Amino acid sequence: MEVEVDLSHRARDLADEIRRRPRGLWRWREFLPVESPGAVVSLGEGDTPLVRSGRLSREAGVERLYIKNDTLLPTGSLKDRSVTVAIARAREVKAEAVAVSSTGNHAASVAAYAAAAGLPCVVMVPAATAAGKVLQARVHGATVIAVDAPYDQTAALFREALKAFGWYSCLSSNPWRNEGKKSYAFETWEQLDGEAPDWMIHPIAGGLGVAACWKGWRELRQLGWTTRIPRLVAAQASAAAPIVAAFEAGQDDVTALTAGPTVAESIAVGLPALGWHALRAIAATDGVAAGASDEEILHAQSLLARTTGIFCEPSAAASLAVAITLRRRGLIRPTDLVVCVATGHGLKQPEAARPSAPLHRIEPGLAAVETALTRSDAHPLNTPRPSGGSPWP
Ligand SMILES: Cc1ncc(COP(=O)(O)O)c(C=O)c1O
Repeated sequence: MEVEVDLSHRARDLADEIRRRPRGLWRWREFLPVESPGAVVSLGEGDTPLVRSGRLSREAGVERLYIKNDTLLPTGSLKDRSVTVAIARAREVKAEAVAVSSTGNHAASVAAYAAAAGLPCVVMVPAATAAGKVLQARVHGATVIAVDAPYDQTAALFREALKAFGWYSCLSSNPWRNEGKKSYAFETWEQLDGEAPDWMIHPIAGGLGVAACWKGWRELRQLGWTTRIPRLVAAQASAAAPIVAAFEAGQDDVTALTAGPTVAESIAVGLPALGWHALRAIAATDGVAAGASDEEILHAQSLLARTTGIFCEPSAAASLAVAITLRRRGLIRPTDLVVCVATGHGLKQPEAARPSAPLHRIEPGLAAVETALTRSDAHPLNTPRPSGGSPWP
């Protein structure tokens, strides 16, 4: 099921109204299927920065490369865009408890918004999920069930539990919830002054990232606010890439596979719930699905951190990794306008990062500081100042 929002009669006055409203995802409320403003629970989600860095562009060989920094959403991941709408809808239908199965980020987000809404919350995650994400859900007071199984089995168990216990589901089979995710397309359109990127690249697990982006751009086109729609790219970890496999085989639906181990744990899904929908979005926009190895993902994570100051989790770096691959393949041209979505914060899974700078552990003493600085040859401060005194140059 998909929600259809009728916007046709509002085309003219809506743009000015939205532009004048305070920042945040709910500026776009006419596009979202929530009827009672009082049901909305906002943690300040939306309007994340669209960052351009000359150094990153040079390294990647793409002049106009932008990062949509969704690591800055309230719980540190993309999920807040859809969960704020899911929880508003849950309140509208007077749900008694909300629930989700998750590779980690979705659980943290539902737990946080449920806490703000005062709703009981149950989340199920694979037991091997990064500790930070599980901790987030627990800190917000959710009932956290860690299943000794990978995600696909956890999700199957969750669907059984949903039937048994009747919770309000925040899964991507909930079409209301999915509508919130469109907002990153709207924001990008506005941040680029109405220009449609040539490519938008999203790390993909269940498939919503590209499906919702496609719907968002179609709605903008329906209003006459854009004529072009970007080519959409699903970026997956090569070890868990059912959408890439289906795309390469020319299928219009995915075949379930067993997700192999990957550092991109948030997108390690073998049976994507919206795989068919993602494939439709890719086909309709002349897009691509492409995989990245763990090595390429970790390289992209480090490159992003060193050149832009954005620290994202490995899954989130899959979009940049795939941008670099598509540039190498010649599919992305050096002058193309490319937007990569960074979907989750690096501090959610810090143990995976490979910092480029060593840690200098020393005994307290100035001589040891000097030795550390001398060893750190990349450091611009490794020449001690001639004498003490004022810190000002
Ligand atoms: C960090 C991160 N990026 C991307 C995704 C993929 O989301 P989608 O369900 O839209 O494919 C997830 C999903 O859990 C995620 O946690």
